[in-house]
Amino acid sequence: MKVLAIETSCDETAASVAEKSGIGIKILSNVVSSQIDIHKKYGGVVPEIAAREHVVEILPVIDEALTLAGIRQADLIKKKSVLDAIAVTIGPGLMSSLQTGVETAKSLAYVWDLPIIGVHHIIGHIYANFIDLKQNIHFPAVVLTVSGGHTNLLLMKNWYDFELLGDTRDDAAGEAFDKAAKLMNLDYPGGPAIAQRADQFELSLKKNKLTLPRPMLQSNDLDFSFSGLKTALRYQLEKDGNWHNRVNEYCYEFQEAVAEVLVSKTIKAAQQYQVKTIMLAGGVSANLRLRQVLEQQSKHILPQVHFLKPLLPYTTDNAAMIASAGVFYTQKQLFTSWQNLQANCNLSI
Ligand code: KG4
Ligand code: ZN
Repeated sequence: MKVLAIETSCDETAASVAEKSGIGIKILSNVVSSQIDIHKKYGGVVPEIAAREHVVEILPVIDEALTLAGIRQADLIKKKSVLDAIAVTIGPGLMSSLQTGVETAKSLAYVWDLPIIGVHHIIGHIYANFIDLKQNIHFPAVVLTVSGGHTNLLLMKNWYDFELLGDTRDDAAGEAFDKAAKLMNLDYPGGPAIAQRADQFELSLKKNKLTLPRPMLQSNDLDFSFSGLKTALRYQLEKDGNWHNRVNEYCYEFQEAVAEVLVSKTIKAAQQYQVKTIMLAGGVSANLRLRQVLEQQSKHILPQVHFLKPLLPYTTDNAAMIASAGVFYTQKQLFTSWQNLQANCNLSI
């Protein structure tokens, strides 16, 4: 069983083909055309430019994904069953970006006479964990999903059933990284830029003399808030005439603050819901420090709980994660028809 997936929710035009393999998912192709270099000069994603790029990139990207997976156009047209379904991200995201992926998926489903699957972007990020899976998943699981637009704690009750436990009250974790980076004149996207400088500070073996707040660390709920952290950073930078020479230290402390809050609330959720697995997902899960602290704390505080994180190439936006979800949905026949599929930029979980 093979699924073609398309992802265009933000500034990556992506296509992938995946199939079931053992207990997990095998990726046959994973093509991502990133617009980061284009948006970098504006310090963030410009929706109109993103939409125009998707329109230009979508067919070459799909064509490459099919070719790399050994699927021939001619066979699809002859309706030989080389693909079982087309999965596509329907939201949340930028509306004009989502529409390119959704309308292209609908057109292909129409001409190739294939069922179609609408995938929630964040749920897709979670399914990245099942690519090349080596161990069985034990449910319930708590999932920390951290991206540029989302910071959620989710309870995954089985392969298909999710419940929202906690959310951010303002900025998402990735957004906080991006805004903090901007304050320090670092490149977009801010997450990797901050992580790289934080590493340099750690390697310099200097002692950190800065303290930034850990917002909502002690709150009774499972929610987050990151805008106060960004403001605290701004105030400290404004007061510090020497901050340009201490950027690595500021990055280190900022990353520590974000990781500590995320990890602490995830462990709290795991305890509260007595889960059997802790998972990480989303673009910010590329952060090595977050991966390390969450894994260490999980194993230390909850040694009986399994810990799972996505492989690094599948952390930031890609279509392999949507293909992974697509294969699972195909197994359960969670299809829709092209007539009923629509992009929804505010899609909830
Ligand atoms: O999932 P994603 O690729 O796109 C959205 O769905 O938003 O996540 C992008 C976010 C950006 O905010 C980016 O700064 C952050 O993920 N990010 C990181 C790292 N790599 C990407 N944040 C922290 N550390 C990283 N290494
Ligand atoms: Zn994402």
